[in-house]
Order: sequence, then C-alpha cells, then structure tokens
Amino acid sequence: MAHFDLLLLPGDGIGPEVMAEVRRLIDWLNARGTATIAVEEGLVGGAAYDAHGVSITDATVEKALRADAVLFGAVGGPKWDDVAYEVRPEAGLLRLRKDLDLFANLRPALCYPALADASSLKRELVEGLDIMIVRELTGGVYFGEPKEIVETERGKRAVDTQVYESWEIDRIARAAFDLARKRRGLVHSAEKRNVMKTGVLWREVVSAVHAADYQDVQLEHILADNCAMQLVRAPKQFDVIVTDNLFGDMLSDEAAMLTGSLGMLPSASLGAPDETGRRKALYEPVHGSAPDIAGQGKANPIAMIASFAMALRYSLELAEEADRLEAAIAAVLDKGLRTGDIMQEGMRLVSTAEMGEAILAEMDAAA
Ligand code: IPM
Ligand code: MG
Repeated sequence: MAHFDLLLLPGDGIGPEVMAEVRRLIDWLNARGTATIAVEEGLVGGAAYDAHGVSITDATVEKALRADAVLFGAVGGPKWDDVAYEVRPEAGLLRLRKDLDLFANLRPALCYPALADASSLKRELVEGLDIMIVRELTGGVYFGEPKEIVETERGKRAVDTQVYESWEIDRIARAAFDLARKRRGLVHSAEKRNVMKTGVLWREVVSAVHAADYQDVQLEHILADNCAMQLVRAPKQFDVIVTDNLFGDMLSDEAAMLTGSLGMLPSASLGAPDETGRRKALYEPVHGSAPDIAGQGKANPIAMIASFAMALRYSLELAEEADRLEAAIAAVLDKGLRTGDIMQEGMRLVSTAEMGEAILAEMDAAA
C-alpha cells in the first residue's frame, strides 16, 4: 500500500477547526486501507510566534521540505497586528512558498449548482462556472528587492520591487498551458503591459512559450484591470487565467466571491517535478483565518476539505478518492446543509463539525 507523509499546519483563527475536519478524513482513509497516511503537526503564523517568537521555525520548514505534502490552514489575526514585520504571521506562509519553491498556485473557482444563488451575481452568470487561476507565487512584488521603508529629507520613502525574469514567466506559462490542455483549452494571460515593464516581458514570454510548444491551446492576452472587470461582467468566458503574484492574489479573491463564498475555495501550490516526478506541494484554502468567528464552530470547512481533495489528486495519486470527495461536497450542498457564510432561506444551518461529518458520511455511502 502506498505510504505518504503529510505535514499539517493548522495555523491561527479558524485554521485548527477546519483542519480537524481533514483529520477526520485522513483517519477514515487510513482505516479503510486506501493508503497509509502518516501525519505530523506543526505550528505556523501567530501560533508559532507565540511559542517560538518566529512565524515558522527552521525545524518546521525542514519537515515541510521532507513531507509529501503540506496542508496549511490559515494565519494571522488582530492579536499579532503589532508584531515586527519580519515575524508577522503571514511571513511564515511566504517563507514556506519561497523555501519550497512553490511557484505554481492553482486556484480553481468552481460554482456548485446548489450555491448559484449565494453568489452576488445573477444565477445565469455563475451557474456552471469553472475557472482555474494560475498565480505565479514565488516572484514579483511579493519578494522583489529592495523592499524597505527609508528616511529621506522629505519624510519616509517606501519601496516594493516588481521584478520578473523570463525563466519565471516561462515555467508558470507552461503550467497554465498544461492545465488548459486537460480542460477547455483556453488561456487568458493577464498583465499590465501598458504601464509595467514586467507586463511587457510577461506577454513576450507567454507568447513565445505558446508559439513554441502550445499552439493547440488558445491564448488571449488581457490587461489585468480589464480581467477584473470581465470576471464580474461575464465570468464564464474564462477557462484558465495565468497571472503574476499580486494580480493573482486579487483576481483569485474576486473569482472566489463569484462562487458564493470565500469559504468554498481550495488551492494547491506546486513546485517543479524532481527527477522522480515528485513535486513539493502545499494545499491551503483561499480564505484567511477569520478571527471574528474563530473557535465558535461557525467556519465553513469546505475550502480546507477541497484543498485536501487537491492533495489527494496532485500529491497522493488518489484521483478516484479526490473525485469522490468533491462529489461528496456537492452532494451535501444539494441536500441543503449550509454553514453560516453560505446560508440561504430554507436550508439547514450546520456547524463546522456537522459539515465535516456529513461529507464523511457521503464518502462512506459512496465507498
Ligand atoms: C493569499 C493570501 C496571502 C497572499 C497573504 C496571507 C500573505 O492573501 O494566499 O491569497 O497575499 O498571498
Ligand atoms: Mg489573497
């Protein structure tokens, strides 16, 4: 039987609650003998800061490097608003992305039929929506140097640096084209070439990769601001959107909201395949730590559970289990179970644990 090592980093706020529902699924898979999944847990974000004074320790990063996959909850909260920038909760996540070289961030925005009315857009605009945002995750303005605030004669001066090299654009473009081949064969590449040099290079490299190796895929270039607008005007025109780190951050929040709730959307962050074909990977919900509802059993665990489904698919080679888990989520929604964030009239309001149990029961029934 295949053996896998997972590192669980629940983090802060609702992170531990939604991770507990994934634990349940891991126990179930182990009990059924589908695979043997060994689990280690670690601290990240504010939880790590409280224990160790840093947002992630070297030892935890080492474990992440060795694991078959990392499952990440969420980090941050008002409690840590005043800690030094270098050790703020988010720094732990950014370090993991960088040290594991997880350059390809896959953020699907899928509208479950049962939730089409929970979207802020009209049902006909979002019903059947299935977009994949491919966000470059280890470059751009998130990591570019200099990044600083300095004193000048006129006051302070803050600098962030947006920088991309062609090889970084090349590899993320390939990731997007490869995915499009397994989907509807359309890639929109979003940048701001009208004001940014990185946008000019982005378009040039994406076009070159397309011309060289992916002419069977349809490529459209789109300005990132227009892309944001088109996402709310006619989101179904998109299949795969490939874009840089910062635009990807924003466009994925926007796309997430089209589906009804940020509490629904999973993500996978993947590195390059090594000689054995294995890729480092981290799976996390797109939503944050939601400190306002933490510890109350109100959080929607679906984004975390769907992130685990992506882990089953991309890291554990358990595609069938991944399909079954995604079907279980859809079935539970069809039956009218709702956490508060996606509650609608006539539906049944359930807690985090009840949602997790119901999804597990569907898995059990389908097994
Ligand atoms: C995300 C988040 C992070 C980001 C934060 C928590 C650093 O918003 O994963 O989208 O900006 O990348
Ligand atoms: Mg974000």
